Amino acid sequence: MSEFINKVKRTHSCGALRASDIGREVVLFGWVQNRRDHGDLIFIDLRDRDGLTQIVFDPSRSKDAHALAGALRSEWVIGLRGEVRSRGMQWSKKENREIPATNPNLATGEVEVYVSYAEVFNRAETPPFEVSDFTQTGEEKRLEHRYLDLRRPALQKTLITRSKMNAATRSYFHENGFLELETPFMGRYTPGGARNFLVPSRLNPGKFYALAESPQLYKQLFMVAGFERYFQIVKCFRDEDLRLDRQPEFTQIDVEMSFVSQEDIFEIIEGLLKKLWKAVHGLELPTPFPRLDFDESMAKYGNDKPDLRFGMEHVVLNDVVARFGAEGGVAPLWETLQNKGLIKALVVRPVADGQHNPSVVKEKGEAFRRANPNPTAKLPPPPKDLSRKDIEELEAFVVGMGAGGLARAKLAENGDWTQAPLFKAATPELKAAILEATGAKPGDLILFQFGSAAKVHTIMANLRVYLAKKLWLIPDYGSGGHWNFLWVVNPPLFEYDEESKTWAAAHHAFTRPHDACLPYLEPDAFQPEKVYCYRYDVVLNGFEIGGGSIRLHDPEVQRKVFAALGLGEAEAREKFGFLLDALKYGAPPHGGVALGMDRLAFLITETESLRDVIPFPKTQRGTDLMTQAPGAVDEKQLQDLYVKSTPPARG
Ligand code: AMO
Repeated sequence: MSEFINKVKRTHSCGALRASDIGREVVLFGWVQNRRDHGDLIFIDLRDRDGLTQIVFDPSRSKDAHALAGALRSEWVIGLRGEVRSRGMQWSKKENREIPATNPNLATGEVEVYVSYAEVFNRAETPPFEVSDFTQTGEEKRLEHRYLDLRRPALQKTLITRSKMNAATRSYFHENGFLELETPFMGRYTPGGARNFLVPSRLNPGKFYALAESPQLYKQLFMVAGFERYFQIVKCFRDEDLRLDRQPEFTQIDVEMSFVSQEDIFEIIEGLLKKLWKAVHGLELPTPFPRLDFDESMAKYGNDKPDLRFGMEHVVLNDVVARFGAEGGVAPLWETLQNKGLIKALVVRPVADGQHNPSVVKEKGEAFRRANPNPTAKLPPPPKDLSRKDIEELEAFVVGMGAGGLARAKLAENGDWTQAPLFKAATPELKAAILEATGAKPGDLILFQFGSAAKVHTIMANLRVYLAKKLWLIPDYGSGGHWNFLWVVNPPLFEYDEESKTWAAAHHAFTRPHDACLPYLEPDAFQPEKVYCYRYDVVLNGFEIGGGSIRLHDPEVQRKVFAALGLGEAEAREKFGFLLDALKYGAPPHGGVALGMDRLAFLITETESLRDVIPFPKTQRGTDLMTQAPGAVDEKQLQDLYVKSTPPARG
């Protein structure tokens, strides 16, 4: 062990020193970011999680330290003592005079430390990539050496923010009378919801635990047990196909409350989000967040997690087309109605000057300057409209999602419909009605989709976001300065599964229906599609950041919901026996919600994917490139677990 580290205490972090410290004797520890040898003087930047400080080794101050500095390399770990000095003046060729040698981009940029003593704690091999936010090294290589990747200031900053979020979350719930209670990760497999990871039980041959996809059932049992207000920052496990906003193990802020209405839960969650945005951005979020009915969300945006940072709402044209019937002159639209399909339009209006998202304009400008350092290169103006080529690309984009094509109409200045073969035989009355419904004006482009409702919703939802990115209304990543929260409320309780031709619970079978809809559960008036429920999602900029529901606590209604799902008493008992038992012994009215902590963190830090806010994330294929998990195990281990492995042959 170094004498230095035993006898001397660190006085400051590498991000702490300011002009007011000039003249002080300080001790710093950290990593060598880089070294610049100016012959007489040697400079290094010393880095720790707090920042960088410029260090100067001057032989007239310490010959030994100067000699040691000559050997220093990137990522060596050192400790030093020295005096804080002003960075002084330097000659500016450009200005032909002496100017202060300060670095305005660095918090410690006014000072440097002149070393009197230094010691190497540890050397480092040349790292496989430079520890810098400007590294060109691909993500795979960086994930292989995640401990080095995590040294990069950008990742340090996001994880420090995440730690702050955890602290703020805990203090918020404790202040509001919640208890932080733990639930098992290894539980019994229950059907429905996401696909589970299974864990074989050595002590119970042939039996398996399921890793908890959420603490859902346990948190309801806490309510039955009388704890009233529960929260937990908890890992959840789901064996799903991964996407930008999904990881197989992820973290929820999980909440359950007794004796509450939906509005009480919204108030608590809005309070938490307010606190988080205040802690991280110093921002005062306006509350209450807007509420949007599920059906309206589907009609206007095509999904239940709309991005409200821009308009371009969809318009449903079923009624308009129905009004004119086959006489309207557009057979495919009329046929869509006959097949109980959906017809939607979306108007793309030229973007006026000043209507683009300022942060996108700035970002694109900076990217252009980087690619074209010549100051005379002329910055292209923001896109106002879609070119023909853009529209062809759009068509390819929707066809890629399974659309038959992209029907459209460009409205000429004289009101003519151009580029609109679908509407060749359309009557003027139908066209006028479409213009009225969509509000389209000369110069606008109307895009259409028709067919099965699910497909039309999805294609139009993706199209809307694609266009907003294309026209610089929202950035590809990050908030672009807008935080648009909302609650999507009152969805249907059931959804029809086309494959099995049965009704399934859209969320889970323990969600409470609206009282007014209960008659539709009765056999003589059975219409499951009309049963709406107390479920809600909280959405931010097009991402579902949380969801929950008011639960069913009345066994009688529970039985009716199970019946609608085709679940008899025996089958329900087999699947959910312990919960049904618990609900029999005086369950209070209760409800809850879970927020996706990783999603919140990636949105609040404006990073590009969940991998940027998870210290040791999995890749798209569910692997950890650093530890090489998942890995093979030997035959004996499998035997001990009474498991046989039958991987498919490679080929
Ligand atoms: P739900 O399944 O909607 O609800 O999950 C709640 C929130 O968790 C986040 N989330 C994920 N984040 C990263 N990777 C994933 N694979 C992933 N899956 C979900 C989302 C989502 O909104 N027990 C219920 C909550 C309740 O009813 O109280 C539940 O788990 O942000």
